[in-house]
Amino acid sequence: MATLLNIQTSPRGSGSLSRILSQDFVTKWKKTHDDGKVVLRDLAEGGLPFVDMPWIGGIFLPPEQRSVEQQDGLKISDELVAELFAADHILIGTPMYNFTVPANLKAWIDLIVRPRVTHSGPPERKGLVTGKRCTIIIASGGVYDEGLPASASDYESGYLKRILAFIGISDVEVVMAGGTAAAAFGSTTMEELALQFRPAVLVAAQ
Ligand SMILES: Cc1cc2nc3c(=O)[nH]c(=O)nc-3n(C[C@H](O)[C@H](O)[C@H](O)COP(=O)(O)O)c2cc1C
Repeated sequence: MATLLNIQTSPRGSGSLSRILSQDFVTKWKKTHDDGKVVLRDLAEGGLPFVDMPWIGGIFLPPEQRSVEQQDGLKISDELVAELFAADHILIGTPMYNFTVPANLKAWIDLIVRPRVTHSGPPERKGLVTGKRCTIIIASGGVYDEGLPASASDYESGYLKRILAFIGISDVEVVMAGGTAAAAFGSTTMEELALQFRPAVLVAAQ
């Protein structure tokens, strides 16, 4: 049975373009994966902790040597890592905030990138999360498509591809859903914008 891990980060509900397109993706994915399972990790609900001293101290120790505080500090990190390993396809639906990932997505990344768990660390320095596909849908006010001058300010798509490759996920497709500022100013609607990006999203969900 195939599993889709659906990671959402926008605090906006029905008005969020990344959520509208992610929902299209999930609907299509379910149609093409009869007995597929979808696991939702909504980072906008119940904020993740930032890495702290118990976490940093704990990751370098074998589990049986961790203090109770370190075990507690690693609990949510272990849970997120398990979700990642259990998935065949990972969907990340997210806004661009200040040219990069929102803080809740960065908190998730910090918790899942772990030496000897999701990457080997030195000397091999290889990713351990292999055999996965990933689709990233990035909604942004501006348009950052490749070739446009604004693409030089896109510190999100390249960063996400780099960090995912670092843990072994290199089969990654990015849909840049730019231009939501026009909807914010009333010259179009999110639904009209969604029409523009839906074909690419549906292809990625196959
Ligand atoms: C805190 C904040 C920072 C933002 N930074 C950018 C930015 O750097 N570039 C951009 O094009 N849009 C930026 N935006 C606009 C969002 O990317 C845009 O509203 C997008 O549609 C949000 O995703 P959503 O529709 O899925 O909620 C920002 C919005 C917020 C709230």
